[in-house]
Amino acid sequence: MSTVTENSAQQRNVNSSIDELIDEHARVLSSQLHTLRSRLFSPATEKELRLFSSPEAARLIGVTDAYLRQLARAGEGPEAERGPGGRRLYSLPQINQIRRLLSQHKPAYLPGRTGQEHLQVIAVTNFKGGSGKTTVSVHLAQYLAMRGFRVLAVDLDPQASLSALFGYQPEFDIRPNETLYGAIRYDDQRRPLRDIIRSTYFDGLDLVPANLELHEYEHETPLMLTSGDRSDGLFFARVAQALGTVDQDYDVVVIDCPPQLGFLTLGALCAATGVLGGAAWRRAAGGG
Ligand SMILES: Nc1ncnc2c1ncn2[C@@H]1O[C@H](COP(=O)(O)OP(=O)(O)OP(=O)(O)O)[C@@H](O)[C@H]1O
Ligand SMILES: [Mg+2]
Repeated sequence: MSTVTENSAQQRNVNSSIDELIDEHARVLSSQLHTLRSRLFSPATEKELRLFSSPEAARLIGVTDAYLRQLARAGEGPEAERGPGGRRLYSLPQINQIRRLLSQHKPAYLPGRTGQEHLQVIAVTNFKGGSGKTTVSVHLAQYLAMRGFRVLAVDLDPQASLSALFGYQPEFDIRPNETLYGAIRYDDQRRPLRDIIRSTYFDGLDLVPANLELHEYEHETPLMLTSGDRSDGLFFARVAQALGTVDQDYDVVVIDCPPQLGFLTLGALCAATGVLGGAAWRRAAGGG
């Protein structure tokens, strides 16, 4: 009997020393990453979107270049920056400003939803890792924002590749309770999704960033299910409930899912009005 007790005490010691070792390695790794980052990037480094030439801006808005020039000559709309050779260059906020101006006479210049149209939620998912989900998510979200839609990109993957593409480093820039987990967690630390959403360097495109804390949801959901407590909403409805609180602010939500069918992905699939998977984007690219 005493041997059994000694064995389990030894096992506990081994476990706690492994935990301490992992903690120590995590701290060292984190500080090295921090040093590397501060050497490579100035603290003021921020991603920014390039400017668009007048023909590009005209194409995005859906007017002719001549009409855009005519507007500029008439002093209507924003004043464009001048590039080499005096060419007009427009930023995306300026392009959106022109869209709003033109929509006063023709609402179609603002392509967002109207009247009864509901929020579109597109879950980009594939259970295979490295299959292009994040690449598709970021391009889709940025394309829609450039077309003038109000877009919310949700990074649901604890690896946070989508957040990194928008210039947010999960390790340093995202603090506890600043991912979707903060809005779907089960305890009293839950907070409104609106407070978690961040703007990005694309006008009209906001982001719910990710980091490792999203894993908590995968651990806590089975505990909730076994506890039998259903008072706080079903796990698969929680992503939809959180998105419902910002429904009026967006036309499209794009969710970049993790590469497995966990509780987060199930929540995204239940919230989705459309799903983009591997076969769909191979077809879109002209493949099989
Ligand atoms: N159409 C493509 N052609 C070539 N390379 C691509 C294409 N799409 C994505 N990639 C590359 O494949 C790699 C994996 O892509 P991505 O990160 O988008 O996959 P993912 O499915 O999100 O991965 P994970 O499952 O780890 O989240 C990246 O290096 C990306 O640049
Ligand atoms: Mg990814």
